[in-house]
Amino acid sequence: MLHGNRSLRLNRAERKAMRAACSFNAQLMDHVRPFIKEGVTTAEIDRVVHQYTLDYGHVPAPLGYQGFPKSCCTSVNNVICHGIPDSYKLKSGDIINVDVTSIVDGWHGDQSETFLIGRVSDSARELTQCAFDCMHASIDALQPGCSVVVIGEVIVEIATQRGFSVVHEYVGHGLGRRFHQDPSVPHYPTRQARQHRIFPGTCFTIEPMINAGTRYTVLDRQDGWTVRTRDNKPSAQFEHTILMTEDGPEILTTTRDGPQPGHQF
Ligand code: MF3
Ligand code: CO
Ligand code: CO
Repeated sequence: MLHGNRSLRLNRAERKAMRAACSFNAQLMDHVRPFIKEGVTTAEIDRVVHQYTLDYGHVPAPLGYQGFPKSCCTSVNNVICHGIPDSYKLKSGDIINVDVTSIVDGWHGDQSETFLIGRVSDSARELTQCAFDCMHASIDALQPGCSVVVIGEVIVEIATQRGFSVVHEYVGHGLGRRFHQDPSVPHYPTRQARQHRIFPGTCFTIEPMINAGTRYTVLDRQDGWTVRTRDNKPSAQFEHTILMTEDGPEILTTTRDGPQPGHQF
């Protein structure tokens, strides 16, 4: 049976609150953007995220979330997601995903981008382009009441065609008052996704992680967070928070200065 959880459908006031949270989060992304360059440490990026969020009276959602120690995730090269900011200094040729999430008046906005540092290889650039195109093509495929599975179908089609793979273990998610809630939004087709529909009022993320080589992942046993590719080849990711409306999908985390749909890296 096709269904969508009614309790997750936001009313007008709740949608307004989500728009405000996501719009602040996008503003935060634009604020940190110029700091993400060669020679900067990932801890410095985290400090900028943390301070800006506090300056506006909001809360960095990652800090203390299930014990996460920092205010954003910084995932470099072979790190797929949940990289912990540290003393690592960005160097030319790196690709880095910076994932920021804010809590604004109790509501969450969540987004990430992959940044190219200095001169990067053609293959890393193509990988980053693929993650970006997968995210936007899957957003474009959404219609009110559509099945969640369309997202995974579109993403696997594009990634496979370009010779890349799609991570299974980490998925997009519903969000609102909670950071992670239903629906689960896998970036590959599943039976469960086939059965869930995205009705107007549903808020969720799409955040495909695309790998240059194998799709398989390894969780760091020391820190319990950092997720790497099993073959240590690079991985790229983009994330937006999306609200399904009666008229179709609305991207809530659009930035002023970041890559817009159709962007070529
Ligand atoms: N922002 C990530 C996501 O897109 C989640 C990070 S959880 C943290 O869902 F604890 F690592 F911050
Ligand atoms: Co997310
Ligand atoms: Co995120």
